[in-house]
Amino acid sequence: MAKLWQGVTDGVTSKVADDFNSSISFDSRMFREDISGSVAHAKMLAKCGIISEEEKNGIIAGLFGILEDLESGALAIDPECEDIHMFVEQVLTERIGESGKRLHTARSRNDQVALDLRLYLRRETDSFVGLLKRAAETLVKKAEEYKTAVMPGYTHLQRAQPILFSHHLLAYCMMLLRDIDRLCDCRERLNVSPIGSCALAGTTYKTDRRFEAELLGFSDVCRNSMDGVSDRDFALELLSGISIVMTHLSRFCEELILWSSWEFKFVRLSDDFTTGSSIMPQKKNPDMAELIRGKTGRVFGDLMALLTVLKGLPLAYNKDMQEDKEAVFDAVDTVKACLTVFVPMISEMKALPENMLKAAQTGFINATDLADYLVRKGLPFRSAYKIAGQAVARCEELGCVLETLSIDEYKALCDKFDSDLYADIDLKTCVEKRISEGGTSLGSVEEQIKYVKEKLSETEDNI
Ligand code: ARG
Repeated sequence: MAKLWQGVTDGVTSKVADDFNSSISFDSRMFREDISGSVAHAKMLAKCGIISEEEKNGIIAGLFGILEDLESGALAIDPECEDIHMFVEQVLTERIGESGKRLHTARSRNDQVALDLRLYLRRETDSFVGLLKRAAETLVKKAEEYKTAVMPGYTHLQRAQPILFSHHLLAYCMMLLRDIDRLCDCRERLNVSPIGSCALAGTTYKTDRRFEAELLGFSDVCRNSMDGVSDRDFALELLSGISIVMTHLSRFCEELILWSSWEFKFVRLSDDFTTGSSIMPQKKNPDMAELIRGKTGRVFGDLMALLTVLKGLPLAYNKDMQEDKEAVFDAVDTVKACLTVFVPMISEMKALPENMLKAAQTGFINATDLADYLVRKGLPFRSAYKIAGQAVARCEELGCVLETLSIDEYKALCDKFDSDLYADIDLKTCVEKRISEGGTSLGSVEEQIKYVKEKLSETEDNI
């Protein structure tokens, strides 16, 4: 097939080479960005006197026509075209004639593709921020719904100290707030225009890059044309940011999988977000949570692929860079799909506070509080720790818990024990006493809820 770039060569390549070289099957999703970039470019060319007003008007009308027809399906993407940039230019020239050929003055596909990708990812970043806000709002609402439910907090997956379930959920809200921050921060560096860098060295035409950047809503222009066409850090940053999002979702999903098992029974996932087994009638499987956990690996893989593609490339553009898009698109689609299912799955999840409390009542999770009691009675912490450990061992021998070990048993271990110890090791008291900032007491949880809500209301929602 003869190419737009037919020049020094005859523009004819073999079919296998064409197929191998082509990116239209995946980059056509950037047609809106490609067209809006071209509209801005035509306006800039006219403003700088490089094309006439009539030519500009013809180009813009032609581009809008193509946009409309692609949106409505009246115009189909031609898979024979090498990429979306070639396709739009080819259709434009077919439709408006000679002036269509003037659009590519003072630009190259190298800066054009960098521009399209930045525009595309800017929109996706905004929708991630929106989705993350929904996720954090849903979690904070759950925290409010089960504000006072007591559960065992774990370290090493061993029961450690009693906490409020709401405190546990709020930990994830904090992570999501940072995820939002990270993406907003990455958006700032992404929102810089590469267009006008041209092939690599800039152009001999008197263009106005800042005018074009402003039309497209960018806050600055890339200050070095070689960097402008070679930089994909913005994509790396976004992929890193959403990989961290996936790490957070995956950890939470892992907990949901554990919590919804018969071994824990702390939560019940809605039937809408679980599946049955084809053979075991009793099964209710947390497939959605498992898939989110599983898809995390895939997103990490996309990040790793892009890092690896870029690491050995000399400046400036190399065709290897075409490999950025499939990784980026796959990661974006996957994380969006995960967040889209995560939000309603959490919102429909029911907690089972009685089971959480029951679990908290075994495992001696108030042993630290017993030691703290002795510290208050004047013992050094290390000695108190040892005696509390002996009390736990005694309970194990007798088959009871710290709350039911008799006062005589306690006194036999240490004469500082008195019957006021029982109030101190009551699970609710243990939680309530953890008043340090960020601790699990109800007051602290309420502060956290307020903080999360405030932060969320300050985040601009662009979707
Ligand atoms: N399809 C190409 C890509 O995605 C567009 C840029 C092509 N530039 C070039 N000089 N061949 O990277």
